[in-house]
Amino acid sequence: MTTATAQAFANIAFIKYWGNRDNTLRLPMNGSISMNLDGLYTRTTVSFQPSLPFDELIINGHEIRGAGLERITYILDIIRGMANIRERAEVMSDDNFPSGAGIASSASAFAALALAGSKAAGLSLSEPELSRLARRGSGSASRSIPGGFVEWQAGTSDEDSFAFSIAEPNHWDLVDCVAIVSASHKKIGSTEGHFIASTSPLQAARIADTPRRLDICRNTILERDFNTFASIVELDSDMMHAVMRTSTPALHYWKPASLEVMDCVRQWRMDGIPVCYTVDAGPNVHVLCLETEAQQIEKQLREIRGVNNVLVARAGGPAKIV
Ligand code: DP6
Repeated sequence: MTTATAQAFANIAFIKYWGNRDNTLRLPMNGSISMNLDGLYTRTTVSFQPSLPFDELIINGHEIRGAGLERITYILDIIRGMANIRERAEVMSDDNFPSGAGIASSASAFAALALAGSKAAGLSLSEPELSRLARRGSGSASRSIPGGFVEWQAGTSDEDSFAFSIAEPNHWDLVDCVAIVSASHKKIGSTEGHFIASTSPLQAARIADTPRRLDICRNTILERDFNTFASIVELDSDMMHAVMRTSTPALHYWKPASLEVMDCVRQWRMDGIPVCYTVDAGPNVHVLCLETEAQQIEKQLREIRGVNNVLVARAGGPAKIV
């Protein structure tokens, strides 16, 4: 086989990955837990061709060169090494979610690349092997390989730093309503953020407390205990943003509308609605709730000034060949 197409979902972290022990291997300072987002995926075709002098990358119809291409070639080189081949590849990748909607696509993109690329090279990798390969491209991509609710164990080395499912997608009817408050590109992305995480005096405390938060988050998912889940998810997001805001240089990702959404969510929960928020390295707010409240939450979010759009996603399956 020299051509293969794969599809992988984006994911939202409930316990966040922030900071690496090893930036080249992308070995994280802490484990993390996430849910795949079924509505939001990347589909990637990799085709190894003897006639190509260089790897080629086309994302959403646009040819990409420079740093974007180098990041892909880095993964293709690992695949070529494993498969013992020399051919360069054409990589065509499309996101089904609006580009510039502020949804990080590196997780779905590198998960789809790892699966399509390894398949096209004739390899048949296990799920942990695929997760490790995707991790080398983007840490969070390790979590878009398995399906449903996923944990990425920090591990001690490249061999044991991979993600696995802790529950199937249909285990719990959680819904992620993503309140889009800005579609513009962030100035400092997560890769640079991981580099400087340790400059924050709060990072050591965040890392030391992570096993406790992981245990609570994992248990509340398994027990479908929304209220305890809500408090640990908000605490984890707030702790990561405290680290970001106190690192050098300081990273301030929230916009006024992000705070407005978080305030509303806290108020709704005090009013008895099961709902909570979490925010990644950007201004958009992921509002988590249960299927029974999803329509109402989506409507209320759209009424908040500064919310431009709301994307709705449920728990998604694993990366797959299509
Ligand atoms: C805030 O996986 O995007 O979304 O490995 O440099 O690609 P790279 O970083 P990335 O970092 C994700 C950071 C986060 C939290 C999370 O998803 O766990």
